[in-house]
Formats: sequence, C-alpha cells, structure tokens
Amino acid sequence: MKVTLVSRSGKEIVKGGIELTDSATVADLQREIQKRTKKSPDRQRLTLPVPSGSRERPVVLNSKKSLKEYTDGNSRTLTIIFKDLGPQVSYRTLFFFEYLGPLVLYPVFYYFPVYQFFGYKGERVIRPVQTYAMYYWCFHYAKRIFETFFIHRFSHATSPLSNVFRNCAYYWTFGSYIAYYVNHPLYTPVSDLQMKIGFGFGIVMQISNLYCHIILRNLRKPEGDGGYQIPRGFLFNIVTCANYTTEIYQWLGFNIATQTVAGYIFLLVAAFIMSNWAFAKHRRLKKLFDGKDGRPKYPRRWIILPPFL
Ligand SMILES: NC(=O)c1ccc[n+]([C@@H]2O[C@H](COP(=O)([O-])OP(=O)(O)OC[C@H]3O[C@@H](n4cnc5c(N)ncnc54)[C@H](OP(=O)(O)O)[C@@H]3O)[C@@H](O)[C@H]2O)c1
Repeated sequence: MKVTLVSRSGKEIVKGGIELTDSATVADLQREIQKRTKKSPDRQRLTLPVPSGSRERPVVLNSKKSLKEYTDGNSRTLTIIFKDLGPQVSYRTLFFFEYLGPLVLYPVFYYFPVYQFFGYKGERVIRPVQTYAMYYWCFHYAKRIFETFFIHRFSHATSPLSNVFRNCAYYWTFGSYIAYYVNHPLYTPVSDLQMKIGFGFGIVMQISNLYCHIILRNLRKPEGDGGYQIPRGFLFNIVTCANYTTEIYQWLGFNIATQTVAGYIFLLVAAFIMSNWAFAKHRRLKKLFDGKDGRPKYPRRWIILPPFL
C-alpha cells in the first residue's frame, strides 16, 4: 500500500510517499512518519481529505485500525493529511499543574502576612468562615488531583504543551483572585446559618461530583480504546453532564458560604465554559447513539442545568 502524506495546504510531506504492507496499521504508518520527520506519534494528527465544499468534519485516523479500513474498496493508495500538533504533555501532567497552583496559592493568602505588601499594617483576625473556606478549597483541588491520577480514564494520552500555560493562567489567576478577597483583613463574614448551608450543600455536591467521576470511569475498560458510552445511574439518569452540574453547584455552595464578587465571577465563567463543553458532549452522544442500525437511542435528558438547560 502506498500512502501519500500531505499538509493541509496540499504540500507533500514525505517526497515520493510511504510504502507499507497491505496489512499495515495506522500505528505502523505513524512509526514510518516519525522515522522521516522526527515527529513522535503523539504530535501527529492524521485525517482523511474532505471533498472540497463539504462542511463535514474530517475523519481522524485511529492508530489501532488497519489502513485498509480507510481505503474505498480495493484501492492500494491512500492520501492522508498530516498536521503537526506541536510539543505534547500527558493529560495527567496538564491537570496536575493547573490544579497545583490554586492548591498552593490559596493557603499562602491564609497563612502568610501577604496583606502587608498591599498596605494593610494592622492585626489580621482570622474568621471561622475563612478557615473552613481554606479547608474546603484545598479539599476540592486535592480531590481533583486524586481523580486525575486514580479515577479518570482519558481518551487522549496527550495535550499540546501550550495548554499548560493557558490552563495554568486561568486556574492560578482565579485562585489568587478569590483567595485575596476571602482572606482579606477587611472581609465581612456572612451569617453562621448561611455559612453552614453553603458549605454543607457544597460538600454534598463535591462528594456527588466524585461519584459522577467514578460512574464515568466505569464506562471504560482500563485497556480500552477510549470510546464513549451512555452514562447511566445517579444524576446521569436526568442530566448528560451530571459531573459538571455538581461541579457548578459545589462552587455555588462555596459562594453562598463566602460571598465574594470574585467567587461569583469565577462561578459564572466556569459555568459558561462547562455549558459549552456540555452542549458538545450531549450532541456527540446523541449522534453516536442515534437508534439506527442496532445502535441504542440516547435517552431524553437535560444537558447540564435542569430545568433550564
Ligand atoms: N471549574 C472549572 O472551570 C472546570 C472546568 C472543567 C472541568 N472541571 C472539573 O474537572 C472535571 C474533569 O473535566 P473534563 O472536562 O476533563 O472531563 P469530563 O468530561 O468531566 O470527563 C471525565 C472523564 O470521563 C470521561 N468521559 C466523559 N464522558 C464519557 C462517556 N460518555 N463515556 C466514557 N467516558 C467518558 C472523559 O473522557 P475524555 O478523556 O474522552 O474526555 C474523562 O476522562 C469535571 O468533571 C469538573 O469536575 C472544572
């Protein structure tokens, strides 16, 4: 089989193409590409050409499949589009660094006399709500790191290195912004009852979020190829992205208890981001499970925030 490898602009990447056996897999092709271009398989994105004028998304080649599956009929030639995704890091590395920032930075505002550098000279009296908020916050990010290493079964091994800087900027900046206001010497606590309702509700949502992640984990086998299944059970019987629902509600609990503008801004931004992702995930599951040709039909469910979305 002969593979012609071209860039998205149509320029040939390997002059004269690549000759492979008829039984070769996509992984074999990736190894050949690595030999010639020095780009590891992680950073190779291989797709089939899309007919001009078509609005279809290109088919991404699966490394476990044979190349023959991507040819039409008995053709022994195949044209493949190659895109270099740039330097990669594992998903675990990405998540670890983005969560480590808020986990470390928040206690710095609680424990250390940082407010002196912002011009506050007086004695700082720490309120109980500020102490509980610090434990709540650290529990949340420690839980996320734990889930990253011991719960999630990711479909993609790696992510572009540039995402580390983008995601860290997001989490580290918001973490410091919220920590600054919640731990501030002039912070005004809410009532005792409001604090208890907020943290109580938030903790229940954090535990529910962990349970949602365990349900998602069990949808994939450890040695599986990262496919998607219909999540069922617990809140997934009502909402497609119950993990995001509980994540949003646990931030709501934190904000009811601590009540800062910074915390509510983060809640709105996070809810907006997760809603966009939830729409995409809901669409993907409805497309994969369309009820045709023996495939199950995706049940009727809310997307992220019943009864609105
Ligand atoms: N505060 C914020 O701004 C914010 C934003 C986003 C996320 N989060 C938190 O971080 C957590 C992780 O987020 P995430 O977006 O990376 O992942 P996710 O969508 O919550 O999914 C967690 C894991 O389950 C897998 N999965 C999801 N749906 C599946 C299905 N139908 N079948 C099989 N496996 C499935 C995912 O696989 P894939 O690898 O294929 O995705 C991923 O490995 C969230 O649940 C949330 O708690 C917080």
